[in-house]
Amino acid sequence: MKVILDTDPGIDDALAFILLKAMPEISLQAITVTHGNTSVEKCTTNALKLVELLGMQDIPVAMGATEPLVRALSIAEETHGDTGLGHAILPEPKTQVIQENAANLIIDIVNANPGEITILCIGPVTNLALALLKEPTLRKKIKNVVSMAGTIHYPGNATPSSEYNVFCDPESFDILLRSGIDLTIIPLDVTYQCLFTKAHVARLDSAREDIRTFIDRSTAFYMEFHAEYQGIQGCAINDPLAAAILVKPDLVTFRDYYVDIELHGEFTTAKISADHFNATGKAPNAKVAMEVNIDAFMDFFIERVSTI
Ligand code: BDR
Ligand code: CA
Repeated sequence: MKVILDTDPGIDDALAFILLKAMPEISLQAITVTHGNTSVEKCTTNALKLVELLGMQDIPVAMGATEPLVRALSIAEETHGDTGLGHAILPEPKTQVIQENAANLIIDIVNANPGEITILCIGPVTNLALALLKEPTLRKKIKNVVSMAGTIHYPGNATPSSEYNVFCDPESFDILLRSGIDLTIIPLDVTYQCLFTKAHVARLDSAREDIRTFIDRSTAFYMEFHAEYQGIQGCAINDPLAAAILVKPDLVTFRDYYVDIELHGEFTTAKISADHFNATGKAPNAKVAMEVNIDAFMDFFIERVSTI
């Protein structure tokens, strides 16, 4: 399976990098970086550091959008720390980004592999929206998009009703929803069931030591955030769940929904809604993960990471 990873690393993004390294079923074509958890510059440095930690230097890393399509930039340093990787410290990267920007790289890779590319989006989808705006025919050539995004019934983590990735750039997510691309959404409804704790870290005893140390230190910060701001013990590892379903879709239960987004609400801007009873009469435009087998996912994550 040929995949482009579009990401804003980010602690849980970093866990998704690690899981992708442990999924030989996936042939990673490129890593495209966006603003999101921190600035695109810091996210790009983090992507390069992770690529080196994991020995993935053969995969091109492209820097992308510095800001959302329309709105002002938001970052989440209280969630992911000043660097974006919590308490983890990784060496400065020796490799560099490629010259091409993220949206252009997405266009080139999809054009060279029509019908074959899955785009895994685990940050705000600005890069993909820019690619679709620049080359509208691209939507017919992308195999599918899997996006960690939004919340249907679970409370928002950015505003009371909106999820962070969609909140950062709702107009880009709107473009994706209306693109007609085969779209899978992994919302907070499932990711916030998957709380990674110190007990899970302890189960990584046979993982490579530097990787275990990275996971321990980065998630320690993430756990502190969840405890202090959300009263949650453990941390929701949103992004690796979206990566995992690429090879193990039975970890979740999907429903086909017509999904829409509020762009101008007084309280609900960036809230996505799923038309459960088909009140609109509109055909589904997304497959949404609504239930998750938590233990199976945690086992999958720990087993795979232990193989690196
Ligand atoms: C999403 O927002 C970011 O903080 C995480 O990396 C994840 O992609 C969860 O709402
Ligand atoms: Ca992310």
